[in-house]
Amino acid sequence: MSDSKDKNRFNYIDNDIRDIPMIKTYLAQADKYLEAIGYTEHGLRHVNIVSKSIQYILSALGYNDRTILLGGIAGYLHDIGNLISRKNHGITSALLSQKILEEMGLPLDEMLIVMSAIANHDEYVGEPTNAVTAAMIIADKADVHRTRVRNENFISFDIHDRVNFAVTESFLKVDKKKMEVTLELIIDTKISQVMEYFEIFLDRMVLCRKSAKILNCHFVLIINNVKLL
Ligand SMILES: [Fe+2]
Ligand SMILES: [Fe+2]
Repeated sequence: MSDSKDKNRFNYIDNDIRDIPMIKTYLAQADKYLEAIGYTEHGLRHVNIVSKSIQYILSALGYNDRTILLGGIAGYLHDIGNLISRKNHGITSALLSQKILEEMGLPLDEMLIVMSAIANHDEYVGEPTNAVTAAMIIADKADVHRTRVRNENFISFDIHDRVNFAVTESFLKVDKKKMEVTLELIIDTKISQVMEYFEIFLDRMVLCRKSAKILNCHFVLIINNVKLL
């Protein structure tokens, strides 16, 4: 494969990754599956936000354009495996992505980076071992917000609905000088207590801290203007 030709092709196709019909179908099916089993939104809104956040983290920390591009692609594909099963969906997302990445003409070494980032975003199997995976984990876990709640009946909210619905604002900030990645949340404590957030997100926050280390950063968590991590 000619390096420059493939890179051009990949760059071109990357601009259109959101228009590839097969990916749209996979994402819609995955989100439908999660809706049926009562999970929060994991569709286009979520993967677009995760993609952008990964790219923001990597570019703010000075990673090269190619790494930033791979991060964006990994973010867009990371949840497609939910169309098969929620359990181990990181791994199934990675395996389903292989064909798409091959068709995009991604060189093998870059394809493996993307697949590894996708497979390891899930907190049950996730191990951040490189910058793209680390940024992916932080970006994915940072997307907690009331707009992800689909249940319209407050009375039947479970703890995930309640915590997500309580989060009225969430910001991800990277400070390259301090080498800090900060997740700042505003939680409406009339809906959910901060303790509830930790009850369901403790594992995720531990993984975010581990991921920040891979990026040579500290992970900072601020909830309602109080620094908690
Ligand atoms: Fe996921
Ligand atoms: Fe996700």
